[in-house]
Amino acid sequence: MAKKMFMQAMGRAVVILWVLMIAAVGHVSGQIEATPPAVPTPPTVLSPPTGVTLPSADEFAPAPGPSLEDLFPPCQGVLVVYTTTFTKKIYPYLNDTPWIQPYRFQALATLLNQGYSTIANWEMGITYQHGEILVNAGGAVLNDGSRLPADVSNGTVLTGAQPQKLMNAIETAGDLQLIQRIIPLVGTEFGIKRDPMPKSINITTKDYNCSVPTMKGNNTMYTCCLEKNRNITLTDDGETYLPEEAGNITILYDVTQSYENNYMAMVTISNNMPITRIDHWNLSWTWTENEFINSIMGAQTFEADIKTCVNGLPGRTYAAGPDVNKAACCSMNPIILDLPLDRTNDTNIGGIKNCCKNGTIYPAIIDPKKTKSAFLMNVYKVPPGSTDMTYVVPPVDFKFGDGANTTDGYYTCGKPRLIKPTVYPDPWNSLIHQTSAVKTWQITCNITQEVKRIPKCCVSFSAYYNESVVPCRNGACGHPVLPPSDVYGDTSPTCDANAPAMLLPYGALTLAPVNRTKKITAWAALNHKAIPSPLPCTDYCGININWHIVSDFTKGWSARLTLLDWSNITYPDWFAVIEMPKATPGLQEAYTMNATRLPLLNNSLGDPLLNNTFVVTGLEGYNNYLMAAQNLSSGKIQSVVSFTKETTPGILVPMGDGFPTRIFFNGEECVMPEYQPINGSGRVAPSLVFGFILACLSFFLLGPLGL
Ligand SMILES: *[C@@H]1O[C@H](CO)[C@@H](O)[C@H](O)[C@H]1NC(C)=O
Ligand SMILES: *[C@@H]1O[C@H](CO)[C@@H](O)[C@H](O)[C@H]1NC(C)=O
Ligand SMILES: *[C@@H]1O[C@H](CO)[C@@H](O)[C@H](O)[C@H]1NC(C)=O
Ligand SMILES: *[C@@H]1O[C@H](CO)[C@@H](O)[C@H](O)[C@H]1NC(C)=O
Ligand SMILES: *[C@@H]1O[C@H](CO)[C@@H](O)[C@H](O)[C@H]1NC(C)=O
Ligand SMILES: *[C@@H]1O[C@H](CO)[C@@H](O)[C@H](O)[C@H]1NC(C)=O
Ligand SMILES: *[C@@H]1O[C@H](CO)[C@@H](O)[C@H](O)[C@H]1NC(C)=O
Ligand SMILES: *[C@@H]1O[C@H](CO)[C@@H](O)[C@H](O)[C@H]1NC(C)=O
Ligand SMILES: *[C@@H]1O[C@H](CO)[C@@H](O)[C@H](O)[C@H]1NC(C)=O
Ligand SMILES: *[C@@H]1O[C@H](CO)[C@@H](O)[C@H](O)[C@H]1NC(C)=O
Ligand SMILES: *[C@@H]1O[C@H](CO)[C@@H](O)[C@H](O)[C@H]1NC(C)=O
Ligand SMILES: *[C@@H]1O[C@H](CO)[C@@H](O)[C@H](O)[C@H]1NC(C)=O
Repeated sequence: MAKKMFMQAMGRAVVILWVLMIAAVGHVSGQIEATPPAVPTPPTVLSPPTGVTLPSADEFAPAPGPSLEDLFPPCQGVLVVYTTTFTKKIYPYLNDTPWIQPYRFQALATLLNQGYSTIANWEMGITYQHGEILVNAGGAVLNDGSRLPADVSNGTVLTGAQPQKLMNAIETAGDLQLIQRIIPLVGTEFGIKRDPMPKSINITTKDYNCSVPTMKGNNTMYTCCLEKNRNITLTDDGETYLPEEAGNITILYDVTQSYENNYMAMVTISNNMPITRIDHWNLSWTWTENEFINSIMGAQTFEADIKTCVNGLPGRTYAAGPDVNKAACCSMNPIILDLPLDRTNDTNIGGIKNCCKNGTIYPAIIDPKKTKSAFLMNVYKVPPGSTDMTYVVPPVDFKFGDGANTTDGYYTCGKPRLIKPTVYPDPWNSLIHQTSAVKTWQITCNITQEVKRIPKCCVSFSAYYNESVVPCRNGACGHPVLPPSDVYGDTSPTCDANAPAMLLPYGALTLAPVNRTKKITAWAALNHKAIPSPLPCTDYCGININWHIVSDFTKGWSARLTLLDWSNITYPDWFAVIEMPKATPGLQEAYTMNATRLPLLNNSLGDPLLNNTFVVTGLEGYNNYLMAAQNLSSGKIQSVVSFTKETTPGILVPMGDGFPTRIFFNGEECVMPEYQPINGSGRVAPSLVFGFILACLSFFLLGPLGL
């Protein structure tokens, strides 16, 4: 009973503050706007509190005000209120078509937790109905990640820029700062002269049920969202860290030193993908409180944008220093790029552990020590809003790009999540001691499933028992309107984009695409194969990989791997990942290359692929560069890989077991051919002709196929 009365009294206090708040905001907007704002419906006449005479009530409510019961019916959950405070006609004036006349509207969206539980991450849904375009949400962001201004006519969900709690009154003794969020909204709507209202409002938190919203006056809508579970639980504020999350890419934002007006942040990017290599990484974000990067080590900013500092708040705030003309980046959306390798030991701009990798982050299968990239920056707060030294707001809206295409949204990053501070060696004094970050946020970025990239490489299959090569697929890497003329010829070829690719005579494999046609058609004519007209298109892949079964004995077998680069890109430290479920356990060695069965990586994302896969790399200083094509000749690397059958009993090499099921080049999946050349007889060469086969092997090694 006492608790109930306490809650009622507190609710009253809360609503008074709510009303005062709205009045204050209304007043401010009135000063800014030329036209006086439409004042919210005046609250119904104030009635003195009835019945309740707890002294504490007076403490909370020094002046008599309207009671909660008068404004809104009692709600023992989250009260959600939407009030339109201002509407004004804006350009263009469309007097003949008033139904599409744009209007500016201002509104306040309010959440007040009057329930039992704390909401870990509030999210407010607003279903609009007048073609609304949201222009400003006072620091809140759209849950779907779209940027303002945004078309929200189909409804939107607002949330904090980082997960933000909405605590309950019981555990905060009704601290309004903690149990309420007021979100000022500014936007444009169409056709409603006064008080455009949404169709509906709600909160989207699981296990809360919102009633159908009710109108109050002409400009206020409210609803009450009740929770199923009504037991009082105290959140443990000492341990409010979120658990670390897995992701394809994880970014740690470690505040390593913090002062009243600036802080140091170590940013570490980790590539957690088992086989994907990142080249030319770039990272950007949005500051939420006008911060600027004063200096940066281990990476560089794309542009300094000094004018933003000099002409703006940073310049006025730090007139006495530091010199904002020397800031590393003043942009609200800085773009960070890696430094070249030769800055690794440069104590002025490099010198950070894991820095300066020229934008390349390897997957763990290539080198577990090269899966991170890090930089350190000095960030100034503008203006330093708090005297609390540890007050740091992380930037939001992280965007990670990998150079292949920075604009296609291939990676989607989540919000910064406060996690347990990282323990790391002191960056300045790594010999002496370990230290712990002041605060650590984690951001995860995952590959966006919907974004498909055009493949860069394709595979062709051949075998000693087959007289031709099963080629790369027609258009395996797309059908460019204007194929690069250096290898495809000067004109756009007229070809059939849908016809299956024609079999390749061996000699055509290493010819530039522009030179292949003649050989293919001549071979087809000779072998009485149909020659379609127009001819099928080529694969248009920069990288062509050929897997050729060279030999098959009772004890073992071998295959030749050829990589051809028809693109104008040179690939340093290339690697290929080859999946062969049946054959991998028998892998012996690769001549002039390094073939290694994958150790079972201790990867949190555990990929089943790793069991039956091996990695092939070039040898340092010998063939670890796959060169770009030049003058109609491709970059080329080849090797023979040998397998034993002792560990793979029953393997049927010519029946398909000798062909890879997937090949990845530099971590990107290659397009496999349409079928495998199968030898129906499945006969294995008897060992008495071993010598002959060996001769063949060396013959193939020397490249009889013109490879
Ligand atoms: C809450 O509002 C959002 C935004 O309009 C809407 O998408 C969602 O369906 C609503 N949820 C419920 C339970 O009505
Ligand atoms: C709103 O919904 C309609 C109908 O589903 C759709 O055509 C339109 O593209 C949507 N608008 C936005 C901004 O999502
Ligand atoms: C509410 O709307 C009605 C009808 O449009 C109008 O008559 C009334 O004056 C409005 N009330 C206020 C307080 O604006
Ligand atoms: C809270 O309530 C739910 C169901 O109402 C119950 O299952 C649960 O045990 C309760 N928890 C506590 C801590 O009382
Ligand atoms: C990205 O992570 C998901 C699991 O979250 C995993 O299934 C997927 O294989 C990863 N992608 C790559 C390219 O490693
Ligand atoms: C940096 O210094 C380390 C240790 O002295 C050395 O091994 C490394 O080669 C140097 N790197 C560069 C790029 O100079
Ligand atoms: C670094 O990357 C650039 C392209 O961004 C490339 O031209 C250069 O060769 C790379 N340097 C090294 C040492 O790999
Ligand atoms: C990058 O992706 C965007 C969006 O998908 C696309 O328009 C653009 O052509 C791509 N650029 C390159 C170089 O692939
Ligand atoms: C990335 O994927 C992991 C699980 O694979 C998930 O826990 C995490 O929330 C995802 N992050 C984002 C930003 O989608
Ligand atoms: C390949 O084609 C080019 C351009 O059509 C031609 O100049 C060259 O002689 C051809 N090379 C061969 C080996 O056929
Ligand atoms: C490489 O080829 C692509 C088209 O495939 C072209 O856009 C690019 O400019 C070329 N780069 C160089 C350095 O020639
Ligand atoms: C071959 O690769 C493995 C794994 O990456 C590595 O441990 C080994 O040192 C490499 N061998 C040579 C000769 O490069």
